[in-house]
Amino acid sequence: MRLGGERIRVKTRGEIEAMRAASRHVAEILQELCERVVPGATTADLDDYAARAIEARGVTSSFKGYDPEGLPSYPAVLCVSVNDEIVHGIPSSREIGDGDLVSLDFGVESGGFHGDSAVTIPVGEVDAECVRLLQICQESLHGAMEVMGPGVRLSDIGHAVQSRVEEEGFSVVRDFAGHGIGRALHEPPWIPNFGRPGRGPRMLPGMVFAVEPMVTAGSPEVTIREDEWTAATADGSMAAHFEHTILITEHGCETLTSISGVH
Ligand code: MF3
Ligand code: CO
Repeated sequence: MRLGGERIRVKTRGEIEAMRAASRHVAEILQELCERVVPGATTADLDDYAARAIEARGVTSSFKGYDPEGLPSYPAVLCVSVNDEIVHGIPSSREIGDGDLVSLDFGVESGGFHGDSAVTIPVGEVDAECVRLLQICQESLHGAMEVMGPGVRLSDIGHAVQSRVEEEGFSVVRDFAGHGIGRALHEPPWIPNFGRPGRGPRMLPGMVFAVEPMVTAGSPEVTIREDEWTAATADGSMAAHFEHTILITEHGCETLTSISGVH
């Protein structure tokens, strides 16, 4: 899909309210899902729960049926990526076990607008290196949010993420990126999680970006599984993924997919 070069839309007040509502659904359902990431649950159980929650709220999945050029249509409402899987894990009969790292990626459309968010959860006793991997991935997203605001150049996001991740000896995945979000799940621009600072367009109040660092404990190389969706680390190392839908405000930015509006 080509998002490069096109204009970045600035949302109206009304559109922002719709994005706020869609993003709130995402945050609330994701929180409920997190509580259900326990040993013995299957990844399909989580998808079922998410599908029921979507229906109960009268909203629509952003993911199910999504079919970028050349790919089969995505068959579920949730992406569940376990351990060495980075993103786009298709829910299955796989059981979650103690010590797993489980990444949930979830999006809904309501009132014509999308919200998109991801979180990685440690299950039970997880080794110290994995805990640090999660922490640094999440911190890299927070670091990006600290620099985001009106007048700031777009590439400062990727630079903030990459700097935080690499100073800790971890790697940033380059095959996938964050994105603008609004009436479409993926709007211009692409937002890589790496790069030099001070490049690209300046952010303006009313722009909304989905920023989503994907971080690995080993090499950043990616392999795509036979289902054509699941992206895993080529070297089998563990991976983490955090994502928020973030509004640029007059003074900085606001996370739309968090319950507190902060993290
Ligand atoms: N957060 C992911 C992304 O922006 C979610 C897409 S999952 C898909 O690419 F199933 F819709 F592809
Ligand atoms: Co996304």
